[in-house]
Order: sequence, then structure tokens, then C-alpha cells
Amino acid sequence: MTVEFRLEASYLPDDGDDHGSIELRLFNLSAAPVSGFVLAWAALTRAARDAEIAGGTLLRRVANFHEAAPPDGFELAPGAAWTFTVSGLTHTPRHRLDGPKSAYLTLADGTRPKVAVGDMLLAGGNDTGETKTVPEGRIEVPLSVIPWPAEVRVEATHETAPPIAAAPSSSTDDLGAVACIAGLAQRLHPAAEPPFVLATSATAVPLSIATDGTLAADGYRLDFAPDGIALRAGGAAGRDYGLITLAQIRHGALTDPARFALPSRGTITDAPRYAWRGCHLDVSRHFHSAATVTRLLDILAWNKMNAFQWHLTDDEGWRLEIAALPELTEIGAWRGADHTQVPQLGSGAATYGGFYARDEVRAIVAHAAGLHIDVVPEIDIPGHCTAVLHALPHLRDPNEPADSYRSIQGYPNNALNPAIPETYTFLETVFAEVAELFPSPYIHIGGDEVDASSWLASPLARDLMARENLKDAPELQAYFSRKAQAIVLGLGKKFAGWDEVADGGGVSPDDTLLVAWRQREKVAELVAGGYDVVASPGQAYYLDMVQASGWYEPATSWAGVSTPEGCYAYDPEAGLDPNAAGRLVGVQAGIWSEHLISRQLMNHMMFPRLGAIAEAGWTPATGRDWLRFAALSRLMPEL
Ligand code: ACM
Repeated sequence: MTVEFRLEASYLPDDGDDHGSIELRLFNLSAAPVSGFVLAWAALTRAARDAEIAGGTLLRRVANFHEAAPPDGFELAPGAAWTFTVSGLTHTPRHRLDGPKSAYLTLADGTRPKVAVGDMLLAGGNDTGETKTVPEGRIEVPLSVIPWPAEVRVEATHETAPPIAAAPSSSTDDLGAVACIAGLAQRLHPAAEPPFVLATSATAVPLSIATDGTLAADGYRLDFAPDGIALRAGGAAGRDYGLITLAQIRHGALTDPARFALPSRGTITDAPRYAWRGCHLDVSRHFHSAATVTRLLDILAWNKMNAFQWHLTDDEGWRLEIAALPELTEIGAWRGADHTQVPQLGSGAATYGGFYARDEVRAIVAHAAGLHIDVVPEIDIPGHCTAVLHALPHLRDPNEPADSYRSIQGYPNNALNPAIPETYTFLETVFAEVAELFPSPYIHIGGDEVDASSWLASPLARDLMARENLKDAPELQAYFSRKAQAIVLGLGKKFAGWDEVADGGGVSPDDTLLVAWRQREKVAELVAGGYDVVASPGQAYYLDMVQASGWYEPATSWAGVSTPEGCYAYDPEAGLDPNAAGRLVGVQAGIWSEHLISRQLMNHMMFPRLGAIAEAGWTPATGRDWLRFAALSRLMPEL
């Protein structure tokens, strides 16, 4: 493939308080000189409002998207480079992916050649050089299971793991479950022998399955004997978790027989620590196909995770088909040089995006349900709504000055306005369809990162503030959230949001679940406030946080460095008052997509931390062991 242009960026730290500067170099590798062109690039480290450009002119900036031109009359000869420097950055970049990820040129004739982009280099200052490490670990019990079960007793093991065959007397329902988990194992480990079969043989160990009313619905017990395995479970979920445990044990025994084995005598008694073992996926910043989402659900099931918070909307794209509002996906699902939504993050001039058609959603939800995973839809409001406001501009206050506030990601005026009646009509329309598509008891309304000066220049919002005696943006947001909550509850759903929903007076904690993300301390604070809480602190559980401090470690570190060991060690119950009004209902991984420009990077960021969070959600605190987890994590499937 011929590369005609390439953009390289170098970060120059500042010794003082400043965020430093980025030097950009555009190389012309084509055969012809170019002049009169504009360079567009998208970079997470942005030029601030007062940025200075040496060697060119900044023409436009929308969040990560920048456009700059060289000085008048400049000609970029073949083999030469145009160098310019941006000083005045929004924040300090700390890792290579914090720089430009996509770029293109617009030439004088209107054509838009592609520009290859290199990861940002560090041109000064210290690089710790540290990269992600996971130790070899230690195996004391020869069982390969993540999350580790509540109680394990292994007295003897098979020399070589025999096939496991469902007892012919099993009910059709139980045979179906065995086939389902065998299919899951085959999808995740296609090169391996299936864990179970339905057809008995002389060499196979029979597996009998029974219901046991003394066990929790999601609990199970496995009894191993030389002539058979007995699985007892409180309900369908417990039975299937027991089958997953057995499938993992057999997979380890076959893959690494020197270290792992199938017990011939012993018991496993197991049930989850928390009801909510979640994973969140942002499909807005980068779109993930239905096939990828389905594969992720398989991986969650293998980790016995049971909640998938699907972050379907954000500034960079609306990804859910809403039949009554086709504009949301016709306009809001796409970005590119010819679209209302400009290129961002890893996308360039070409059309980029996608959305899930309603039938695709139904298929994904059904796939999840078959694996005991609840798909919780998230429609992120009132902030993070650039795509909505591009699609439905009537939701703006016409007299609010443009660019009167910017979100933390640099989007101007990106929040739904609480003072506009059509805002609530929009919510009623969207939530009615969401409630119909998703059987989840919850609708998650986001609620995060509304800028503190949002709406303050909107005359309509000002009137509302005066009428309702609301003093600032958080109080306006709480007013909005209470109305959103009433719509959600009116549809027979429970209300969920990020932790900011409790700010500015908050909402009623009844039937409200909040995902605590901003700091570790938020978990205890919200539980004390009476909410049901899912712990997902960015510092430990956001999988887009780097796993080591070095410059070349992929991803970002605005919430800090989350090493695999640190992620594993996080204790969601730290600081919790046992007499608090609310409850900690579980834990959740956060997969944010800004940096997910390849499957390899996604795997690098997700694993083994996803499994660490699964184990925090399942295994009793006393049963957790980092070195055992580190060793076993190598057997777990990736995307
Ligand atoms: C968030 O990370 N903005 C919930």
C-alpha cells in the first residue's frame, strides 16, 4: 500500500506548570508538491481555546477534531515535511495514544488524501519505561477456574481428563443447558475438545444434574466421584454456572495437564458474592459490531458476569435505531468530512460509524438472556448529547449563544436543555422504545460529566432557574433527572445512572441504582445516601486506564494507572458502613472506547483485568488470591 502522507507528533513537556506543546510534522511521500491544503487531525490531547500555533494557523477545533493550514504560499515538496507546533494544550499527555490517531488533507481541488498517523513520540522528559506485567503466578490446587469458587475441596484427580457425558436420564431442559455451555466453550476455544457431550460412551464420566432447593438460584454444588459427577443447583443460572466451572476445569486439564486436572474425588460449593457482576461497553466513540458485542457476551458468561451496561449513545455517535426518530441514526450514527458530525478519535474523512437495528438488538438481548446476562441499555443524557442535538436541533434553546460552555471532552453546548418541553417529549419517545426492546428491569440514563456552566447562558434555562429556585447547573440537572426518573418509572422500569445523578439534590433513591465511577470513595458515599450502588471506580476498574506508567503503554491515565494487580486488589467494600441506608449490589468493568482502534489493543486493555473484576464480583474476599488468578488468567479467552 502506498503511503502518500504521514503525520508524526512529538510531545514536548514543559518544565513549569504548563501542559507543554506538541510538534506535528506532515511528510509528503507522494511524487507531487502540494500547496493550499488544510490538514485535519483528531487527537485526545487538544488545542485549548487560547492555543498558539507556530508555523501554521488553527482554523477549527471541535472536541478532538482540529484543522490547520500552513502559512500562505507554503509548498510542501515531495520528501519534505511541514512542521508546526501547538502550544496551549487542554491537558498533559502521558501516553502515546494521547496524541493524533487519525488525519487527512483537504487539497485545493477538494480531494482528501489519507494521512497515515504514527503514535505520538515523547521528545523530552522522563519515560518510566514501564509496561504491563502479569507475574507467572502460582498454582496450589490443580483446578483452572475463574472466578474462583467459594469452596473447593479436591481429594483426587483423574490421570487424564476423560470426556464428560450428560446422563441419558437428564431432562430435556438440562440436556439443552449442557449443549448450550458446550457450544459456548466451542465458540471461545474452537481449537479445543468440547467440554461435554450428550452421547455416552464407555470412556465418558457421566454427569447427572438435579435441582436442589437448599441452594441459591445462582448457586451450585459439584460432587466428583470416580464413576460420575453430580451437579446440583438452585436454579437454571446456578446449573449453568456449574457447567461453566466444569467446562473450565476440563479445558485446563486438557490444555495444561502438567498443572491442571479433573477431580475424581472432591466437591465444589459455589455461589456469587454479589448480585451484579457487570461490564460496560462504550460503542459510541468507536463502534463495535453486533458480532463483537455477541463475542463479548460470551466472554462475560465464561467469567460468570451477568450485567452488560451497553453505552449506546454519546457525543460521537447515537447507535440505537429508534423507529419514531430515524434522524438519530441517519445523522447521529455517522461521522466524517461530509457529515454533520466531524471526524473524531481514530476516524478520518471517510464515513465512519454504525448503529444497531432493532432486530439486531433483539438478537443480542436474546443471546445474553440465554447466558443469564441482563443487557442494561444506557442512553446518556443530559450531557454527552452532541449527536442528538445534531440530529434534532429543535431541542436547542435558539437564544443560547453557541459555544457558551464546553464539556470535559471539548464539545460545545452538548447537553439537553432541562427548560425545553420537547426535551421530555424526546425522552418519552426514546424510553418507550427502549423499554419495549430491552427486558432489563433498568434503564440507565447516564447523567455523567455535565459541565458546571451548562445552560447558564440559555435564557430558557435562566427562566426555569428563577421559577424553580435552582441555583446552578447541578440543581438544574437534578431537576431534569427527577423528570427523567418519573418517565422511566412510569414505564415500569427502575432508574439507573452514573454517580453524578446524586448531585445537586439528587433523585429519590427508591428504585434507583447508581454506578460509582469518579473516585473509590463515591461507593461508600452513595451507599450512605441510600442508593443501590455498583462499584466501578475509574482508578481501578476502567479498562482504558493504562496498566503501567510508561509512555508506550497504550491507553490513558486521567484516573491514574490501574495495574492488573491493583485492579485485582481493589476492595469494593472499603469504607462501607454496614448500617448504611443503601446497598452495594456489585462491581462493574468500564470499557471506554476512545483508544480501541484495534482488536489487539482491546485485548491488551481488557485482559486480564476483566477477569479480575469478575472474581471481585463472585469470589468471597477470603478466597481471593492474586498469584493464583495471574496463573489461571492465561487460560481465559480473549476477544
Ligand atoms: C464516565 O466515565 N464519564 C461515566
